[in-house]
Parts: sequence; C-alpha cells; structure tokens
Amino acid sequence: MILTPTMTGIASPDPLQHAFKVKSAPHAGRSGSKPLQVSNDLWIQWWQQPTGADKRALYIHIPFCRKRCSFCNFFENGAKPERISDYMTSLCQQLTIAAKTPLAQSQPFDTVYVGGGTPTDIKAEEIAVLGKAIQQFPLRADTEITLEGRLNGFDDDKWHSALDNGFNRFSFGVQSFDTEVRKAAGRFDDKQTLIERLQHLSKHPTASIVIDLIFGLPGQTMEIWQQDIQAAMESGAHGVDLYQLIGLAGNRIDKASEKGKVLGTDTSEFQADSQTRANMYAYGASKLESNDWQRLSSCHWRRDNRERSIYNSLAKSGIEILPFGAGGGGSIHGHGIMNARDLKEWHQAQTAEKLSELAPAQVPGMALSPNPSAAFDAVFKRGLDSGVLEFGNIETTVLAHLQPLFEAWQQNGLATLDDKALSLTLAGRFWNVNMQTGLFEYLAKNPLIPEQIAS
Ligand SMILES: C[S@@+](CC[C@H](N)C(=O)[O-])C[C@H]1O[C@@H](n2cnc3c(N)ncnc32)[C@H](O)[C@@H]1O
Ligand code: SF4
Repeated sequence: MILTPTMTGIASPDPLQHAFKVKSAPHAGRSGSKPLQVSNDLWIQWWQQPTGADKRALYIHIPFCRKRCSFCNFFENGAKPERISDYMTSLCQQLTIAAKTPLAQSQPFDTVYVGGGTPTDIKAEEIAVLGKAIQQFPLRADTEITLEGRLNGFDDDKWHSALDNGFNRFSFGVQSFDTEVRKAAGRFDDKQTLIERLQHLSKHPTASIVIDLIFGLPGQTMEIWQQDIQAAMESGAHGVDLYQLIGLAGNRIDKASEKGKVLGTDTSEFQADSQTRANMYAYGASKLESNDWQRLSSCHWRRDNRERSIYNSLAKSGIEILPFGAGGGGSIHGHGIMNARDLKEWHQAQTAEKLSELAPAQVPGMALSPNPSAAFDAVFKRGLDSGVLEFGNIETTVLAHLQPLFEAWQQNGLATLDDKALSLTLAGRFWNVNMQTGLFEYLAKNPLIPEQIAS
C-alpha cells in the first residue's frame, strides 16, 4: 500500500501541533462526477418525479452583506434594499412553484437552512414572506429551520417575525467578542452589545441560538481567545462552532499577508501561527467539555438539547438538498447542483416566458452526474467529522483495505483503534479535515475494486 505523510500525518511528540503542517482545505471531498448538460425537459422531469431520498433538506441562499469582513470570502453583493426586495420577490415565487411539485411533495423535509451572505439583513416583512414560502413545503412537526446572519441589525421586529413564521434556529456569526479584534475584522458591535443581545434572544423557551467563533484572527491572542470562550459560555447561546481561520485567497487578511502585513488591532499585530491555533482549539474544546457542553462534531458543541445541528450533520451524510437562490448549492436525485452567483443572470432566467408551473426556473449554473461513491464517501466524512468512525456498517474487506492507514493514524497520535471503531484523539479532531483528505488520497492511490465501492 502506498502511504504518504499527507495521508498519515507525521510522527511527532506533539501531534496536536505538528501532525500536519497546515489545514488542507475548509472541507474534504472527491467528486467522481462529470459535468452534465441538463435540458429544460430533463429539469422539469426531475421536479415531476418523486424523491428516492429518505432524509432531505432545503437550502436557500441570500447573497447580500452590508460590509465585507476582513476574513471572509462569502461576500457576494452589497445589501441595497431595492436589490434585496427584488431578489426576495423572485425567490419566494420560485419557492412557491417548487413547493407544489411532486418532487417537493413526495417526502417531508428534515431541515431547512437559509444561509448567505447575511440573511438577517432582509426586512422583517421579507422574513415573514420567506417563512410562509418555506411552510408550503411538506415539513415535519420538528423540522429544523435555520436563519443565518449576524446580531447587528437583527432587531426585535425581525426576531418576532422569524419566530412567528416558523424559524426555530438562529446561527449568528460572532467571530470574536473582543471589541478591538472585531473592529480590525470590520465587525460593527462591541462585546457588551453582543452579549446583552445574545442573553436576551437565548431566553426564548424553544429557539436554538448558535454562534460562530473563529480562532486565528489578527490581534486575537490566546488570552483574548480564552475570553472569547468564556463569553460564549456566558452568552446564553445553546450551541457554538469553533472554526480555525482559513486563509482564503482574495480576502483582506490574505491580501495583506501577501504584502507581509497583519491587519491587526490598534495595539497588536499578533496573528496566531498554526501551533498556537492548535492550542486554541484544544483550549476551546476542553473548556467547553469540562463545562458540560456536548461535542456534536469536531467543531460544534451544544449546552442544551434544543440545539440539534441537523442541517450540518445531514449535509455531511450526502442527503438530498434542494437548492434555491443565486449561489445556492445542493443535489437533486443524486445530481450535484451549483447555481451561478450572478444576480442579473439569475433574474433573467426567471422572466415570465421562461416560467412554468411544472418546475422552478432553471437558473444558470453547474450540474453533475451522480457520484458513484457518494454514499460510501459520506460514511467516512461523517464519521471522521464526528470524531468516531463506527465499523458496524462498513464491509470487512473495506476495513482491511484501510487498516494500514488507520494504524498509521494510531501510531501518529491521531486516533485510537479497536475492533468496533476508530476514535479520533483531540489532535485527530483538530486535523480531521486533513485526515478526510488523506483517506481520499489513500483510496485514489490504493484503489478498491468497484464491487467494494458499491457496497
Ligand atoms: C457564510 S458566513 C455568514 C456569517 C454572517 N454573515 C456574519 O456576518 O457573521 C458563515 C461563517 O463562516 C465562517 N467563516 C467565514 N470566513 C471564514 C474563514 N476565512 N475561516 C474560517 N471561517 C470563516 C464565519 O465564522 C461565519 O460566521
Ligand atoms: S462574515 Fe458575514 S457579513 Fe461579513 S462578509 Fe462574510 S458573509 Fe458577509
């Protein structure tokens, strides 16, 4: 078997800091799919055909932000009110058409995610119309319906409009609570304002409030990170994500670092290196867990059962996700779909003569043939992301094939192995995306025979 350090990590007395040099990518994956031309007839046929999936989701993309934050590559369009209201009108028309189709009606949706951009920047009335459009789809009594965004500008009118129209989960990007770090990153509110607002929202008896934190931001020292974790625990939030800053080409932090600069605070140019970030992850994980927060994945914890994180966990299992909006992505009958981001093209695709009652408008973008190894890959992605890869549902021939890689991970301090499961160590959880990438590299260089892939 071929084994390389990018698959196995390297032996080191401190695997948390040194098993890999740098996080490989935000997500791991291999496609195995080919681009597909989808005629309008085929598109309509897809929407007229019941689903074969037993779990599924809606993903609705709202690609507007008021400001471009220094660390982020998700900024797509400035939040001009008229532009947003035109978009929301078309989007809700599309949702209404889609909801009536046999594809939509054939099976309830387990989770709905309204992501962006900054969906919380739309008006309270638009939140209400969107919530009502979502309710036209078959939902379960406990379907998770998430609205993503930020606390700034999410006033009581928006909050009540969202609650009254079915939203039951709110995912807010906080990034850091530290006022100076926030200012340097282009965020609006100070620490006190954020904490007061979170404490107020999280008093709701059933809604789940989740916050995102990033470690590795310019100016964010270990001491500030420790205060960030403390503030998250005191904020009342029911769930928290801890994301390592990913250096994505083109964002302001990345452009500055190309010139050898750090976009630090007024008083600090500090930016944590990879080893310090590993320690930041370890600190956050152990602080949360020692305060009874439960780990749901390598980067997500909850302090309360109301937080379920259904969308994130099912999305990693390769379920059907019907995508809506410019820049939205998902899958229909096993075909990967990525809607193009261009707003003008997206609107043009929905002019009256192109619309049909049989399917939502086919917007520009990319479609892929079904990935033959999607179900197989999902088992490993999900298992490694959760921290435990259970062997119960994996063919013994496949396990035998992967044994050399699993043993190398064990030797390098990334996992422990017994006859029932591979369990990631703290270091393994920190490096789990590298391990997923490594596993796919291993399978590419040491292919399984096709019958095993199908199992
Ligand atoms: C699509 S963004 C939406 C955030 C929301 N609009 C806000 O302003 O907070 C979702 C999350 O991605 C994470 N994110 C964005 N850029 C990142 C980066 N470069 N590295 C790691 N996480 C990042 C942030 O934590 C952010 O909250
Ligand atoms: S963090 Fe949010 S508001 Fe800032 S650029 Fe990214 S998506 Fe837009």
